[in-house]
Amino acid sequence: TSNKTHVDERLLEICKLLEKHVDHYNWVGFYFRNGNKEELKLGPYVGAPTDHTIIPFGKGICGQVAVSNQNFVVPDVNAQDNYIACSITVKAEIVIPIFVNGANIGQIDIDSNTPDPFTKEDERFLEFVTQKVSEILS
Ligand code: SME
Repeated sequence: TSNKTHVDERLLEICKLLEKHVDHYNWVGFYFRNGNKEELKLGPYVGAPTDHTIIPFGKGICGQVAVSNQNFVVPDVNAQDNYIACSITVKAEIVIPIFVNGANIGQIDIDSNTPDPFTKEDERFLEFVTQKVSEILS
C-alpha cells in the first residue's frame, strides 16, 4: 500500500477511537489544505457523510481556522454567522489546527450533538492528538 493509504488508515483509526470513546464527539474528521489552493479538502472521518468535501479558506468554522491558525471552540453553532451546517443534529463544534514545521496544513474537526460540551480539557487533549498527527505526517 502507498504511504498515503497507510497514513489515511491511521487517521481513520484516530477518528474511530475518538468518536467511540468520547460521548460528546459525534462527527470526527480531518480536513487538509488541498495542494497549494486556498481551500480545505475532506480527509478521513467518521459520522454522517457531508456534502462539504471542499471548503474555501475563510468559509465556515473550518475555513476560518485555516486562516487564523487558532483553535475555534463553538458552544452553539446556531449563534455563528459564518458556519457551514453539515447536519441539523449538530449543536456545537471544535476545530484544532495541525501544524507541520510551523505551517497550518489542516485540522481536526469535531461536531457534537450536545450543546456547549467542549472544555479546556478537550482543547488540551485534541492539541495532543494533533501533535501526534503532525508526527505521523512528518
Ligand atoms: N461545520 C463546518 C463544516 C464541516 S462539517 O462540520 C463536517 C464549518 O462550519 O466549517
